Amino acid sequence: MARRRAPGVPHDTAAFDISFDGRPVRALPGQTIAAALWGAGVVAWRTTRVGGRPRGAFCGIGQCYDCLATVNGEPNRRACLVAARPGDAVTTQEGNGRAGLAV
Ligand code: FES
Repeated sequence: MARRRAPGVPHDTAAFDISFDGRPVRALPGQTIAAALWGAGVVAWRTTRVGGRPRGAFCGIGQCYDCLATVNGEPNRRACLVAARPGDAVTTQEGNGRAGLAV
């Protein structure tokens, strides 16, 4: 019997690298950034606006916004919803985050 693939899961299952604060992190096609970071043992990737406390994924379904990260220079991306792509550069977001708008 042929194996069936869940909808939306890419055919290619070769792992690839993204980076987190400059360090390589392995990810699989279809995996969210949060899942890839968890897989690498990273559980916090932003700090709160008040108090600077560490945060990572909480709900995992896009509702709580605890998982905000800066992805490829764009702040406030929900890591639990954003699929990892080869070469993505994820950086710790401090507070509200800052877009890389300066030249
Ligand atoms: S973990 Fe709650 S929105 Fe991402």
